[in-house]
Amino acid sequence: MSPPVALVTGAGRRVGQAIAHRLGAAGYVVAVHYHGSRDGADDTVRLVAAAGGRAFACRADLADPATPTALVADVVAQAGGLDLLVNSAASWLRAPVGEVTAGQFDASVAMNVRAPFLLAQAAAPFLAARHGAIVNIADHLAYDWSSPYLVHGVGKGAVEHLTRGLARVLAPAVRVNAVAPGVVLLPDGAEPAVGDALAAGTPLGRIGSPDDVADAVRYLATARYVTGEVLHVDGGRHLGR
Ligand SMILES: NC(=O)c1ccc[n+]([C@@H]2O[C@H](COP(=O)([O-])OP(=O)(O)OC[C@H]3O[C@@H](n4cnc5c(N)ncnc54)[C@H](OP(=O)(O)O)[C@@H]3O)[C@@H](O)[C@H]2O)c1
Repeated sequence: MSPPVALVTGAGRRVGQAIAHRLGAAGYVVAVHYHGSRDGADDTVRLVAAAGGRAFACRADLADPATPTALVADVVAQAGGLDLLVNSAASWLRAPVGEVTAGQFDASVAMNVRAPFLLAQAAAPFLAARHGAIVNIADHLAYDWSSPYLVHGVGKGAVEHLTRGLARVLAPAVRVNAVAPGVVLLPDGAEPAVGDALAAGTPLGRIGSPDDVADAVRYLATARYVTGEVLHVDGGRHLGR
């Protein structure tokens, strides 16, 4: 039997790279999507190979609405089918209410909501043919009412809505779930004090790691009786302070 195929978006760095690595080590052929992180995507392919798996890189600008269909077609042409779509690529808008432009709002929603939806829509027939699954990456910031994160949170809240809606619409052929990470990796260049403050505001008393998210994705990829679930991997941050 041929190995299952996973497309992981935003897999050239950080959390997406950890997810791709984990799936590759678990026996998936991994399509490593990237946009700007060409070298990182090559690193991901090497990491998967070192773990005994197989991967190939594919570039696409997911802010372009024509791209998701083309990306799925490319992956299916190269790998022969699709068993798992992981929507990890995202933008992270930090702009306080009062300063958000229409362009910023549209760009945020385009990356965080429209692209995962269009990818899911394009992938659905191929996933259905193999009783496959979708795992969306949501965000604890959907439950954070701080001004600079409001627009980002709106998009990530929509990712949860999308997850439940697609789970209903695509059942029984395709399962759709989400992982909602808390703080698992600080922004590049962040001071350690930022991590300390975030850990202090987390019930489990520490920040997580990309591997925590990868473990959850791996579980949901094969959880045969689970659909429409949003799995919080956030040290308890969704419980409030
Ligand atoms: N880091 C955390 O602690 C945390 C917490 C909660 C939720 N999350 C979620 O976990 C996921 C990954 O987080 P992260 O911190 O690793 O994200 P990140 O560092 O902000 O990386 C964003 C990813 O999205 C891709 N991307 C951005 N714009 C794109 C475009 N126009 N077209 C295609 N790809 C594009 C980037 O690809 P290139 O680099 O190739 O351009 C990159 O791989 C996201 O969904 C994020 O919201 C992360």
